[in-house]
Amino acid sequence: MDELIDSFGRKIDYLRISITDRCNMRCIYCMPPEGILHSPYGRILSFEEICRIVNVAAGLGISKMRITGGEPLIRKDLNLFIGNLKRIRGLNEIALTTNGAYLKEHAFSLKEAGLDRVNISLDSLVPEKFLEITRGGSLENALEGMEAALSAGLEPIKINVVLLKGLNDSEIISFAGLAKSRPVHIRFIEYMPTHLGEYSYEELFFSSLEVRAILDSLGELVPIENNCRVSAAKSFRIKGFCGTIGFISPISDNFCSSCNKLRLTSDGCLRSCLHSSKSVDLKAAMKNGASDNDLAVLIRDAVNLKPRSHDLRAKPAGVFSEDFSMCQIGG
Ligand code: 5AD
Ligand code: SF4
Repeated sequence: MDELIDSFGRKIDYLRISITDRCNMRCIYCMPPEGILHSPYGRILSFEEICRIVNVAAGLGISKMRITGGEPLIRKDLNLFIGNLKRIRGLNEIALTTNGAYLKEHAFSLKEAGLDRVNISLDSLVPEKFLEITRGGSLENALEGMEAALSAGLEPIKINVVLLKGLNDSEIISFAGLAKSRPVHIRFIEYMPTHLGEYSYEELFFSSLEVRAILDSLGELVPIENNCRVSAAKSFRIKGFCGTIGFISPISDNFCSSCNKLRLTSDGCLRSCLHSSKSVDLKAAMKNGASDNDLAVLIRDAVNLKPRSHDLRAKPAGVFSEDFSMCQIGG
């Protein structure tokens, strides 16, 4: 089996794919209230195009993938797509990240189609706060979605909490409470300003180090050895908890040295890094008649473009490349 190794010796075996830049929510860290100018439908990759890319990538050593958005559950025929992905040789895991709003109605059929697990974005456990942060979302729907995902066995379920100073930093203990009572894995994520969000570091950033200090009151945080080779999250167990607690700290504890990812944007660009605009345009290549071999060369090119590390710390004021938009890249 082939392997993809980048210029810094990192093995690249994980592909995240944004299947749409559209979303039913407008989270304040992701989009402006009026939403974004979407790519026209013709520019969004078709499911056939994505399956073709994944098939070539799996032949090169990509074994895990994640479907993201925007909100992936708003795209039609998702189950059929997942069924087709499932048949690709070498692909061992298909995960999906969702805001949970439509998960209640889709969890079982997604599992049946072949989806392995889900991550759910959940930034508040107070209904009014949830509404404010997502600009329109319903906490009840998201929690029902989580329960449906648990019943359907889309596990392990990870809950993404973007820590936002002054908005949800008072809920750290409540989130830990969710991991105590339910078998879910809470991951506190450090906020990264993007050019489509409107808030700077100074306004919203809340460090994982402070979260850790607050959680210390609950008992000893026992580190979990990663059983998978790499993970952006550092995870911990607390005695008596059903689930776990983790931290994704791009700013305070950069995890670039173990990065194993490539990202395919909704309009078909394969990005080398979340924070670098260096990418190869697979959509254009396919339009120009690229063979599978040509696509394999382009995928290797994207791997070779991977930088050693992002330089977020060198840009504390939140100066980002113009094209850094989470809903197209998929986080
Ligand atoms: N900063 C940190 N995390 C973000 N996400 C989206 N935008 C941001 C941001 N600006 C995370 C959300 C979502 C995942 C896809 O990416 O938690 O769950
Ligand atoms: Fe939608 Fe996710 Fe962006 Fe929120 S963070 S607006 S749920 S794509």
